[in-house]
Amino acid sequence: MTDVFGLSHKDQTRHEQVVFCADDKSGLYAIIAIHNTALGPGLGGTRFYPYPDESAALADVLNLSRAMAYKNALAGLDHGGGKAVIIGDPATDKSEALLRAYGKFVQSLGGRYYTACDVGTYSEDMDLIARECSYVTGRTPANGGAGDSSILTAYGVYQGMRAAARHAFGETSLRGRRVGIEGVGKVGHRLVEHILEEGGEVVVCDVDELAVGRIRQRHPQIEVVPDAATLKRSDIDVYAPCALGGALDDTAVAELRAKIVCGGANNQLAHPGVEKQLADRGILYAPDYVVNSGGVIQVADEIAGFDMDRARARAGQIFDTTLKIFAIADDEGVPPAVAADRLAERRMSEVGRLRGIWLGR
Ligand SMILES: NC(=O)c1ccc[n+]([C@@H]2O[C@H](COP(=O)([O-])OP(=O)(O)OC[C@H]3O[C@@H](n4cnc5c(N)ncnc54)[C@H](O)[C@@H]3O)[C@@H](O)[C@H]2O)c1
Repeated sequence: MTDVFGLSHKDQTRHEQVVFCADDKSGLYAIIAIHNTALGPGLGGTRFYPYPDESAALADVLNLSRAMAYKNALAGLDHGGGKAVIIGDPATDKSEALLRAYGKFVQSLGGRYYTACDVGTYSEDMDLIARECSYVTGRTPANGGAGDSSILTAYGVYQGMRAAARHAFGETSLRGRRVGIEGVGKVGHRLVEHILEEGGEVVVCDVDELAVGRIRQRHPQIEVVPDAATLKRSDIDVYAPCALGGALDDTAVAELRAKIVCGGANNQLAHPGVEKQLADRGILYAPDYVVNSGGVIQVADEIAGFDMDRARARAGQIFDTTLKIFAIADDEGVPPAVAADRLAERRMSEVGRLRGIWLGR
């Protein structure tokens, strides 16, 4: 059952706190949602996007903050789920005053929510927000920040893919495997490099000809197909969605020739039930929020003073986590997406419960 916001009852009732923030002079209108803080302060990016109306923005921030709770839990972080949206067109509405006003509202939550980059916001924006607020990550390296999170996002996807290869093919190496990558932007182009380094073959597609041109120039051996539909029908071993969400719908699942799906995009399954369709066709799905958590691992590390080696080591653990999820899925007879949710909920419950142990004043 849904309400006027198009949200299920479950989505609406599971959030600890939702805050609306307005500053008319700078044009700021933002919503911060904290799904839960069982494992620690909420952590998730700020999306700056021209939503058609407030309902669409609210629905997005509630869904995104819930997803962050699950992602952070399985990334092994001491963070709960949080996310924020700023309603507006970043190309025309973003200003120093607006970002600093937003920083004041994040600060007002006293550390219950840490923000970072997302669609429409960049490390330079986090630098500005940080001038008003202590609870900001993903700043520029010049300011002590973790910088571009796509570095460890791509690395984590690569580790998840190796785990999937071990489970599906009995061999961890991607040497000789054909990997189809949809979208060669920040995450996708770095994933291409990892696959090629290991001796795999790569097929790509992207709606942006410049992005294709850039990667072709560096690696002329890469095959390019005209669009995502062609890529999914291609003779590939692994399909890696690294563009937008919803890449796996009924048609895509029916046509897919790959044995593994493992990519960086968020929300890859177009609707509930697709995870079962994949499993029924014998296609191994590495849950998106598990394998793309390298980025949040990278920015979370900044809170303790950024150390790339430490963050990379932690992102490397995505390999083991992904294997563990496949094992649970097999044991419990459920698709990996369901196993991942169960594992995340278990950690939130078991570790979150420890906060109830009284340590005195
Ligand atoms: N950057 C990160 O650290 C990070 C972390 C977690 C998840 N993600 C997710 O990974 C995905 C990619 O993120 P990014 O940072 O690389 O973004 P990006 O904008 O740099 O790259 C996305 C690429 O996909 C292409 N694209 C868009 N529509 C397409 C289509 N229909 N077919 C083929 N290509 C298409 C774009 O032209 C672009 O080159 C997104 O879903 C994002 O939410 C990113």
